[in-house]
Amino acid sequence: MSRSSPGATGLKWVPKASAIAREAGACLREFFAQGVETEYKGDVDVVTVADRAAEKLIRTRLTEAFPEHGVFGEEGTRERLDGEFRWYVDPLDGTTNFAHGFPQFCVSLGLEQRPAGLAEDEDGTLVAGVIYDPLRDELFAAEKGMGATVNGKPMGVSARGELAEALLATGFPSRKRHASPNIHFYQEFTLRSHGVRRAGSAALDLAYVAAGRLEGFWEFNLNPWDTAAGILLVEESGGRITDFLGGRYRIDSREILASNGKIHGELVDLFEAMFAGRDLSPIPTPAEWAANREARAVEGRG
Ligand code: IPD
Ligand code: CA
Ligand code: CA
Repeated sequence: MSRSSPGATGLKWVPKASAIAREAGACLREFFAQGVETEYKGDVDVVTVADRAAEKLIRTRLTEAFPEHGVFGEEGTRERLDGEFRWYVDPLDGTTNFAHGFPQFCVSLGLEQRPAGLAEDEDGTLVAGVIYDPLRDELFAAEKGMGATVNGKPMGVSARGELAEALLATGFPSRKRHASPNIHFYQEFTLRSHGVRRAGSAALDLAYVAAGRLEGFWEFNLNPWDTAAGILLVEESGGRITDFLGGRYRIDSREILASNGKIHGELVDLFEAMFAGRDLSPIPTPAEWAANREARAVEGRG
């Protein structure tokens, strides 16, 4: 059997990528149990010995399993990027959580197929994605056209059809937070939904949309290593990925909107309105807030 020929499951890349993600996840679990020293990549962008050890392990294992495939990793790996296949690797998505002992992080491996002659700024096709949560021992996986699974069982997006009943997620950059407008979107989506989680791992947020645990997710300024695997998981689970205005998403688009498909139109409508400066909820003055609270208490509305 050649290295990338389908096994009994018909899957070409997921079985080996899953084993690699599990091994890297076990490595992260050990570091997490011991506690790690935190370093800084910039002012506040943390990186730990675990990020680097996991990327080294993944790079080695991917090269053993798929010697012709390229590897593009967050911690600096850039190998064989002129070939037909390219893995986007986030060895530890959720580093800030990890560094604080907050148990929400994962390994993310996404595979892009790039036909010969494609310009560097053109997209290939995402053909495989694996996201592994080592603390819950949950492995989310998909191949193009083959559906998506969690721990080997088929998964799909949720059936909820209204934003008012949706549970959403987003994230904020660790660097230059003041330059991100996301806090405004966080407010408006919170007011219109069952809530917006900010759990600190974009890849797991996408996996959760795919698994039907969240109806939608958006974030400003992500990188392909954060999103490549999750995009395929969402699409193969029946969900939808676009930019904020419903346009085509590209692998190096920085802004992503993911949903179960059913509430996508409502999400895009709110983005459109907000970017146009409409539909912003005014913030009450302290006196208005106190008066509202008292009025609610009198009416027995708490
Ligand atoms: C971060 C996480 C986080 C998101 C940040 C990412 P990292 O990735 O995905 O949820 O809000 O934008 O940079 O740095 O932990 O790999
Ligand atoms: Ca990341
Ligand atoms: Ca990372």
